[in-house]
Amino acid sequence: MRRFRVLHAWLVLLLAAACGNKGSNSLPQPDPAPADNGGWISPAKLQDTNPDPAIVEVNLEARTGEVEYLAGKKTAVWTYNGTVPGPTLEAKVGDTIIVHFRNSLAETTSIHWHGLRVPNDMDGMTMIPAGGTFDYKFTLKDPGTYWYHSHVRTNDQVRRGLYGAIVVHGDGEPDLGAERLAILDDALLDANGALAQGDAMVPMNGLEGNVVLVNGLQKPAAELRPGEQQRWRFINAANARYFLLAVPGRKLTVVGSDGGLLSGPTQVNSLLLVPGERAEVLLSAADAPGEVDLKALAYDRGQHMAPTPADVDLLTLRTVAGDAVTPSAVPQTLRTIPTLLSSATTRTLTLAEAGDMMDPKFQINGESFPNVTPFNTTLGAIETWVIDNQSPMDHPFHLHGFSFQVLSPAEGVAAWRDTLNVPAYEKVKLAVSFDGFPGTWLFHCHILEHAERGMIGEVIVAP
Ligand code: C2O
Ligand code: CU
Repeated sequence: MRRFRVLHAWLVLLLAAACGNKGSNSLPQPDPAPADNGGWISPAKLQDTNPDPAIVEVNLEARTGEVEYLAGKKTAVWTYNGTVPGPTLEAKVGDTIIVHFRNSLAETTSIHWHGLRVPNDMDGMTMIPAGGTFDYKFTLKDPGTYWYHSHVRTNDQVRRGLYGAIVVHGDGEPDLGAERLAILDDALLDANGALAQGDAMVPMNGLEGNVVLVNGLQKPAAELRPGEQQRWRFINAANARYFLLAVPGRKLTVVGSDGGLLSGPTQVNSLLLVPGERAEVLLSAADAPGEVDLKALAYDRGQHMAPTPADVDLLTLRTVAGDAVTPSAVPQTLRTIPTLLSSATTRTLTLAEAGDMMDPKFQINGESFPNVTPFNTTLGAIETWVIDNQSPMDHPFHLHGFSFQVLSPAEGVAAWRDTLNVPAYEKVKLAVSFDGFPGTWLFHCHILEHAERGMIGEVIVAP
């Protein structure tokens, strides 16, 4: 099936090129061919139709489609350009992005460019009705791994498949090995392979699937040559599942967070990636042919009346026979990240659960969206935000349009983030940089069912 679609897509591309029509908006779009990097299958790159090297102009369509998560069974999904995940938007810092978007679904949608500093009217708050079109236009300011997803009935539209990756290459980044992309998700499927709704605890706990997917596949494998090291970008696109990444018996070298490279590499036994969050990790081959698995270890995020999900195998790293390669040494300084100076304004955001177990409400400072009192600040301000989780469940906190650094618990290296876990009954302290665009911006829990049930606030950034 996959082979057939690859072939089909290439034929259409060849025909388009032969007719001199490459990039024409009038052509029906083929399903993009998945990229194959040394045996690693990741979503195709969005086709740039603009010859200007500083402009990346692409066509993106939300439409229904079919995938085969379970062998021999069709799953009806919602897609960008026919695939789940959608095609990857890949560009470099300074590029102008133009996305000609068409909504071919039977309901309203929008696209949020998660983590990018884009003008407020490009952030996905404009509703695009069924059959409607919208041109998104913005310039990339920051290197890193980001993602795009629907921001209307977000929990349902994202679980159906409306998400894709964004990779922004920075200037003068060190060579850390060949790049690989892994978009993590899970799907809740019934015996026929159809997407299921889940039980009565989904509003409270968030939807977790029974099938874990990496780039839309179950436990895919990547090939490495002996000694080879690769730079892996991970994105957690799941509604609610936490991924505690580990290769048992080995350390992971973390080199990047949501907003690109860290100030320096750091070694950990495992790395927690919460919904919405991204990380860059160096993975290397064994010295001799063989296989190891990257796993997601059990992590208790405080779900009510539900067992902690068991360990899952995410992907296999397969060392193939061949000439050994010497990995380039990892520089101790990857990038200079300025430390945000402490600020005059401190705000506390208290996260809480309210209401009934089967009909919960989620609150920030006692309010549930849309009935919220916005904060007010000014462009360029740096503020201290204390996120105080007074609930028995972890919540992944995400801020639109801006980035922050974590003040406490202290991080060993400097990092730009826009999504951070706030463990149950704990506090985190952030330095938020309002360097970006003015407007009314959202912040929310990225367990999408929690956001849908009110755990969203607003900050108005005056010019
Ligand atoms: Cu990825 Cu408002 O979220
Ligand atoms: Cu939450």
